[in-house]
Amino acid sequence: MAHSILLLPGDGIGPEIMGPVGALLERIGAVTGTPLTLETALVGGCAIDAEGTPLPASTLEAARKADAILLGAVGGPKWDALPTAQRPERGLLGLRSGLELFANLRPAILFPQLASASSLKPELVAGLDILIIRELTGGIYFGEPRGVEGAPGQRRGFNTYVYSEDEIVRIARKGFEAAQARNGRLCSVDKANVLEVTALWREVVSDLASEYPDVELSHMYVDNAGMQLVRAPKQFDVLVTGNMFGDILSDVAAMLTGSLGMLPSASLNAASQGLYEPVHGSAPDIAGQDLANPLATIQSAAMMFRYSLGAPAIAEALEGAVSDVLDAGLRTRDIAGPETAEAALVGTMAMTQAVTDAFEARWSASS
Ligand code: IPM
Ligand code: MG
Repeated sequence: MAHSILLLPGDGIGPEIMGPVGALLERIGAVTGTPLTLETALVGGCAIDAEGTPLPASTLEAARKADAILLGAVGGPKWDALPTAQRPERGLLGLRSGLELFANLRPAILFPQLASASSLKPELVAGLDILIIRELTGGIYFGEPRGVEGAPGQRRGFNTYVYSEDEIVRIARKGFEAAQARNGRLCSVDKANVLEVTALWREVVSDLASEYPDVELSHMYVDNAGMQLVRAPKQFDVLVTGNMFGDILSDVAAMLTGSLGMLPSASLNAASQGLYEPVHGSAPDIAGQDLANPLATIQSAAMMFRYSLGAPAIAEALEGAVSDVLDAGLRTRDIAGPETAEAALVGTMAMTQAVTDAFEARWSASS
């Protein structure tokens, strides 16, 4: 049976990346003999413009039916004045909650070819490979009650930070399992010294540890975790944390690698259906100029083949192809250094084409 993939280009640089990446996926399907059906729908600002809502019912319906979803980016200054509940970001949050994509996997891997791009000393980040697992459908992002109430001058704003035991258990298990498949170390991040909800988090995670004797579990307060990430990031293997702490720490971890433009993410539900998206945003300042780095979206597609489509060999070849084009010296502007030759500076289209060629070369060499 064909794998169905829903493409959600979104806003800003999303569409100009998704165009060539869609073509790359078609090519991968043809070259590997993997039947893929691609469909496209609207989410975010473009959906607000076309249909008056950031997440049209037809998009959510198509997402429910798809085996996997590949998303570009949402948001932009055009929609910044809208109230929180109507913003483009709501489209993304609606997909996360609508499909119960509770497990967000955010790897931060430093490509050796790009070590000089990090703001940290090369010896601190060389070989960096950590995985942040962020709870994505609960916590303060979704807790009720929430709102702003009262008369002007005396208003109160409030949100609710809440986790139930079963929510903690299911994300913690993802953390333990990921650590088992990697280097066997799991660090759970909380603020158990101040917040009851995260004291419960720590207790529930600790109680699970006996089921995973091969994993070394540690706990860290979130402020310390932020500090340790910029002080000595290689001490970590897998981090597991709640929605808001994970949002913050994953941006910190992303920057350790020097380019947000390189990092993929996966958001999975219990059925391993997934939404895959780059960690970077819609970058409206460079949109429409063929400058955007497509490698984060391409690596998100690789994660999709691995986690939702059961095709690890394709995932590996695609990740290898990304490494090949970096080896060949090709750079988009965001990852270019003083050593990058003029001819090696490429745009979105040329970079995606180069990855496509490298993928085909790898695939035919291996089969
Ligand atoms: C992210 C983003 C989103 C979040 C925004 C766009 C709603 O920052 O995916 O990290 O806060 O989850
Ligand atoms: Mg974020």
